Amino acid sequence: MVTTDPVLVLPSLSADLDRVEERLQAEVRCDLDFLSTVARHLIGAGGKRIRPGLTIAAAGIADPEGGSCSDDVVAGAVAVELVHMGSLYHDDVIDGATTRRNVASVNATWGNATAILAGDFLLARASQLAANLGTEVAGLLAATIGRLCEGQIREYQDAFNCDRTVHDYELSITGKTASLLAASCRVGAIVAGLPPVLTEALADFGHSYGMAFQIVDDILDVISTEDMLGKPAGHDLREGNYTLPVLLTVQSPAGERLRSILGPGLSPADAALARRIIRSGSGIMEAYAAASVWADRAASALTDLPDTPAAEALRAAADHLLGRVGSSEISDRSGAVAD
Ligand code: IPE
Ligand code: IPE
Ligand code: MG
Ligand code: MG
Repeated sequence: MVTTDPVLVLPSLSADLDRVEERLQAEVRCDLDFLSTVARHLIGAGGKRIRPGLTIAAAGIADPEGGSCSDDVVAGAVAVELVHMGSLYHDDVIDGATTRRNVASVNATWGNATAILAGDFLLARASQLAANLGTEVAGLLAATIGRLCEGQIREYQDAFNCDRTVHDYELSITGKTASLLAASCRVGAIVAGLPPVLTEALADFGHSYGMAFQIVDDILDVISTEDMLGKPAGHDLREGNYTLPVLLTVQSPAGERLRSILGPGLSPADAALARRIIRSGSGIMEAYAAASVWADRAASALTDLPDTPAAEALRAAADHLLGRVGSSEISDRSGAVAD
């Protein structure tokens, strides 16, 4: 397989992520073959595996050798990826998305009801794994799933609202995205038994990284293509999810023109025009600057951490994130593994 640009570069990570893949497949198996098939649909399709990567890197933060992680850390990494996948199953129903990870989405393949139930099944399997890792991890995962819902509901409440504030946008992405990235780091720290000061620094990193991550995703929705993303582009505008680059454009001199176009039932021609207006104004650059601030905060959270391969990998991950906007390319786990 061709090696491309992995999100996290750690000597042992590729082998540890292979253990995650094996365990992911095992955890979604059940007595009902159909449900097993639906539940593993997105596992085989790829994905960047950022959340399990963060769990593994966080767990290894104090290891000067960057050695491989314990089975419990693998279980924690699998649990956070299962939560992520469950939320994607549900998100694609909400967004009416037909592709995900370069394949047909679960809802497009088997319908909304199956996608919702299979998403619930993934969340249930994540909870079971978390329970085996102790009450702290179980409580954390449950609280995080609650935050994901809160963030998604906040987004939904502001659908088609051009006057959505940047603060409300930030509250939404804190819940729907940053909370799981912070939890991914925290799970690694808890399972590895790290001291509180390291655990808090890692969770801070995950939060700030997560904020930058969602802003970058939102920029890519405006500037990229379905082929590049492996999921629909331009969907946020059509669904009325006015994200940071859109809100910043609304507040700019081009704002009145953009406002006059946006709204429910956006035609393909108007969607293309809206994207052109956003791309040619300052909104993208300003959103990129906001993502940079979060990426810097992420790096600062690591300042007092030991100088280990895992800390280095996390620092580099924050830089890598901003590079995604420049190249408009997405590194995929399926392409990130060397053969
Ligand atoms: C997609 O997450 C959902 C967002 C929070 C933007 P990823 O971009 O990590 O998706 P995969 O796991 O690589 O498919
Ligand atoms: C992230 O938001 C959704 C979740 C946290 C599940 P998006 O709606 O932007 O995610 P994509 O773009 O569909 O991956
Ligand atoms: Mg979506
Ligand atoms: Mg998106």
